[in-house]
Amino acid sequence: MAKLIAGMGTSHVPGVGAAMDNGKTGEAYWQPLFEGFKPLREWHKNNVPDVNIVVFNDHATSYSLDNYSTFTIGVGDHFRPADEGWGRRQVPDVEGHPELAWHITESLMAEEFDMAVAASVDLDHGLTVPLSIAYDQPEKWPTAVIPLIVNVIQHPLPTAMRCYKLGQAIGRAIASFPEDISVGIWGTGGLSHQLGGERAGVVNPEFDKAFLDNLTQNPIANAEIPHTDFIREAGAEGIEMIMWNVMRGALNDDVKEIYRFYHIPVSATAYGAIILENS
Ligand code: DHB
Ligand code: FE
Repeated sequence: MAKLIAGMGTSHVPGVGAAMDNGKTGEAYWQPLFEGFKPLREWHKNNVPDVNIVVFNDHATSYSLDNYSTFTIGVGDHFRPADEGWGRRQVPDVEGHPELAWHITESLMAEEFDMAVAASVDLDHGLTVPLSIAYDQPEKWPTAVIPLIVNVIQHPLPTAMRCYKLGQAIGRAIASFPEDISVGIWGTGGLSHQLGGERAGVVNPEFDKAFLDNLTQNPIANAEIPHTDFIREAGAEGIEMIMWNVMRGALNDDVKEIYRFYHIPVSATAYGAIILENS
């Protein structure tokens, strides 16, 4: 049977990808961040699953505000980086895993999660930047990837609890996939940040720390946070943190936190990352 080995949470700030693509990671601004990635990258080198499910949001790149689905799963066998206005990132294309993706889709639908299904969708920084953070600059990504897109852009958004329950259902779907493959799941976005408006630039280390602590020890507490609390405490785009609940929901109740990193500022955000091994 398939086995879920671990979950990772990471911010997906596009500037991190741009720093790598433009050879700036050694600059004073970026150096501490890439120094902090070293243990994360070491762990990923030693723990390469067959498939990673990457939970992220499209930033009105492949979707428009006229047409947004709440939860979308990518079932194609091949996906390309999106052109977000500066051309496509020069990173490898993504190989999908249609067999596991369709199994998860059927299992989720049977559990009354009404998924949108994408055979093709171009992938923006929400997915490509986490791959770069974990795997640096390889010729080819070392794992297949199932994109799982959550609407955190066009209100009304799914609740933090709905995201957690979706993750739990994904966990059950993985456990019932008959092939002996290993799987990872990633939640991306956050942590606290707001890109526009009067409160642009807001970050909240206390809120972020409590969220990370609860992610490991008390995930229901994060699932119970109302949207208004995320937006008030963590900024309008801090709401991206609900996608980490999908990742956490898929894992066992007991997890082992083996890496945590927090750094301010990265662009307009508080950068956060965590790795949780399934116990
Ligand atoms: C930034 C952060 C994001 O999560 C995002 O999607 C876009 C930009 C930023 O801080 O620059
Ligand atoms: Fe984002």
